Amino acid sequence: MATDGWHKVASEIDVDPDEPLRVRVDDAQIALCSVDGTLYAIDNICTHEYAELSDGFIEGDCIECPLHQALFHIPTGKAMSPPADEDLTTYPVKVENGDVFVQLHAPGDARK
Ligand code: FES
Repeated sequence: MATDGWHKVASEIDVDPDEPLRVRVDDAQIALCSVDGTLYAIDNICTHEYAELSDGFIEGDCIECPLHQALFHIPTGKAMSPPADEDLTTYPVKVENGDVFVQLHAPGDARK
């Protein structure tokens, strides 16, 4: 059950350190990525055209889009190389008792 916008999306053991994991919360598609043992949640859809970043590759602290190879910085969502020039949305992540939670909407956020 979601409280304060937190949604359980996976178990920690499901997240491969080298592979993004595609998860879904309502209509949102999110890619969970591990960087140096820390989990981050970013939009799974590239900001350039339609491609799922969960099909891409993690390189250090960046993820490469599988379609045109744009790079995004995972912790910040920042677009690092063309053809993408729009940053990805990032989401807060927490791990409790081995379960991974993503916060889609902060308390007080008017979005649903
Ligand atoms: S769709 Fe991702 S870089 Fe073009």
